[in-house]
Amino acid sequence: MCCDVPGLLFWSTLGPLEDTPLDHSDWLAPLYDRIIQPPDHDVLTDLLELPIEGRLLDAGGGTGRIAARLQELASQIVVADVSLPMLALALEKACCAVVGSHTELLPFPDSAFQRVIVVDAYHHLVDQAASLAEFWRVLARGGLLVIEEPDIDHFGVKLVAIAEKLTFFRSHFVRAERIAEALQAMGAQTDMIHVGHNVWVVARKV
Ligand SMILES: C[S@@+](CC[C@H](N)C(=O)[O-])C[C@H]1O[C@@H](n2cnc3c(N)ncnc32)[C@H](O)[C@@H]1O
Repeated sequence: MCCDVPGLLFWSTLGPLEDTPLDHSDWLAPLYDRIIQPPDHDVLTDLLELPIEGRLLDAGGGTGRIAARLQELASQIVVADVSLPMLALALEKACCAVVGSHTELLPFPDSAFQRVIVVDAYHHLVDQAASLAEFWRVLARGGLLVIEEPDIDHFGVKLVAIAEKLTFFRSHFVRAERIAEALQAMGAQTDMIHVGHNVWVVARKV
C-alpha cells in the first residue's frame, strides 16, 4: 500500500488498531527531536554491544534520532514506525532504511536482525505482547533485543503516566520486570539496568 510520504512504503495495516486511543506522535513529530532528550550514547552502544556486522532494527524508531547516531555502528539500520510524519523526518536524516509498519506485525522475515532496539516506544504500543513476539521473531540467534522504558516505579514517571492518561495519550506503562518475564518465557536471557528515571531491558537470544 502506498502513502503520502515520497519514498516510503507502508507495509502493514492492522484494522483493529484504528479503534484504539490516540497516539499523538503525528503532531509531536516536528517538535520531538527538540524536546525529548536522547538516551546516553555510551550506555546505548554498550548495551547493544556495538559495532556489529549485521542489521539493526529500531522499532517504533520515530524520527530516526537514535538510528542516526548509530549509523556507523551496524551494516544496515532500519527504522520501523507507524507514524508517517515521524518517518518523513527519519527519511530526511538519510541515515537508514525507513519502513511504515505496526510493530504488532513486522514485514520482515524471521531472524533478519542481529539487534533490535525499542526506545521510549513500548508503552505506546497497542498490543505489547504481539509486538514483543514480533521483536523476538525477527531477532537472529546470538542477537540482542534492547528495550528502554521510563521506570514506572519512579515518582516523576508516575506523574507523566497520569498526565498522558489525562491527555488521552495512547500509553500503557508496565514494569520492566514484566517485560523481562515475558521475554524469559520465550527463552531469553535477560538483564535490567536502571539509568536515571529509565530502565533498560536487555534480552539475548541464545
Ligand atoms: C515516544 S516516540 C519514540 C521514538 C523513538 N524510539 C525515539 O526514541 O526517538 C514513540 C514512537 O512509537 C511509535 N509507535 C507507537 N505505536 C506504534 C505501533 N503500534 N507500531 C509502530 N510504531 C508505533 C510512534 O509513532 C512514535 O514514533
